[in-house]
Amino acid sequence: MEVGIDGIELWAGKLRLDLPGTFAPANGEDPEKYTKGLGLQASSLPDSYEDIVTMGANAAHRLLERKGVSLDEIGRIDVATESAFDRSKPVSTYVAGCLESAHEGSLTTANKGERKFACMAGTQALDDAVNWIRAGRNRGRAALVIATDTALYARDDPGEATQGAGAVAMLVAEDPGLVALGPEQGIGSVDETDFLKPNQQFPSVDGKRSMQVYLARMREALVDFARAGGTTHPDEFALVPFHTPFPAMVQKAAPLGYRHAIRDTEYEEQLADEIGRQPRPEGFESEEAYLSAVKEYTEALTDTDQYGRWYDRTVEPTLAISRQVGNWYTASVHVTRVAGLLEARDAGRELAGAGLLVASYGSGAQAEIHAETVQPGWTDELDGLRIREQLADRREISFEEYERIHDAHNHEESTDIAPLTEPDGEFVFDGWGRMGEREYAFIE
Ligand code: HMG
Repeated sequence: MEVGIDGIELWAGKLRLDLPGTFAPANGEDPEKYTKGLGLQASSLPDSYEDIVTMGANAAHRLLERKGVSLDEIGRIDVATESAFDRSKPVSTYVAGCLESAHEGSLTTANKGERKFACMAGTQALDDAVNWIRAGRNRGRAALVIATDTALYARDDPGEATQGAGAVAMLVAEDPGLVALGPEQGIGSVDETDFLKPNQQFPSVDGKRSMQVYLARMREALVDFARAGGTTHPDEFALVPFHTPFPAMVQKAAPLGYRHAIRDTEYEEQLADEIGRQPRPEGFESEEAYLSAVKEYTEALTDTDQYGRWYDRTVEPTLAISRQVGNWYTASVHVTRVAGLLEARDAGRELAGAGLLVASYGSGAQAEIHAETVQPGWTDELDGLRIREQLADRREISFEEYERIHDAHNHEESTDIAPLTEPDGEFVFDGWGRMGEREYAFIE
């Protein structure tokens, strides 16, 4: 039985902060730090009536409408987030309340939960849903997996450059229309304190170390994936979507993955005259000498045409949306999958039956790698997506508006600002209930 993603929808925060044009000059920085250094053009930010519930519910609402799925056909709702505002009541219950107010049917018998492992949780929730179906506990029903985050950092934190807000909703089902998940899974997981939020809204981050931890856990996950029986041969994968905190992070990770993937293959041999064969530990007297040789080889590999062709085909297309929205934490890797597929469809690539190697990551820290197979009819699902139109329709904000919006979403500030956009056929935050709960309304 094939199980995987049958349908997918994205919802971007409705405000657009231009990074090189607005944010960099206001901070006295060179715009090229954003465009070249981080690979980012803009952040998507939530208007004052948007939050993780509205973005998640709006993505799910659109998905259910488009797929013609009633609430009675959903047996499970998992929300992945690291921006939750309630330590007991899961965000999935708020989302379910929204959906029940606007759709036929009931979610009374849907099992609801919330997943946490920094950005890793979106893929973990997907994994849980797939396993629930494979275990035969779904009674023919589908699972709704939602990854939703407002990835905001404290003002003046270096992470502010990489902010973003948005949600991805995925319908997980038997005989999926978009991708089926393979059984092999590689994990790299170590207790790390590079990025965390100990009882606080905005993260404490050791940015440079977080990048090293990302690379180390990814390498372990790739080795573990091969150990689990997964192939990493470059010919097997049409796209390699990575968790993308900012595109330049992926540009650093991709050569390490490619180096691993071509080891002992014809590609390593083809490059031998140009850059030599890959260093092996047994050829060196010390680990330091070995690591230095590996670094040198990787730099030379990155400059080859062979690597450039692979990168342009499998990785670059996956970054097209991230460059325009920033980091969506739990949703980030699911954004890169969609971006890669959209770009491939537009380029006329035929991907039915092709493989995706999906590389997820969450600080704290864990990486996970699994393979997916693109399903026949995959372009039909992509044709229903409106993410590009939604990105183009975002309201451009000034630096002063950005400062006020950031305060409006800061739990420790009581700033109340008028919305900058007009809600239209969507769920909005509608104030506080008598027990301190957040309340929502659907605006026609
Ligand atoms: P920073 O100090 O603002 O930036 O921190 P920088 O000065 O290091 O510049 C960034 C890059 O731009 C550098 O490139 C500069 O050289 C370059 P690199 O040396 O790294 O190759 N640069 C320029 N290039 C061209 N022209 C210029 C120019 N100026 C500079 N004029 C940092 C950047 C990413 C550390 C910061 O934004 C940060 O702390 N971000 C948050 C943490 C993060 O995103 N970590 C990524 C890995 S961890 C992860 O992915 C998990 C996460 O998603 C959370 C979760 O799991 O929940 C974050």
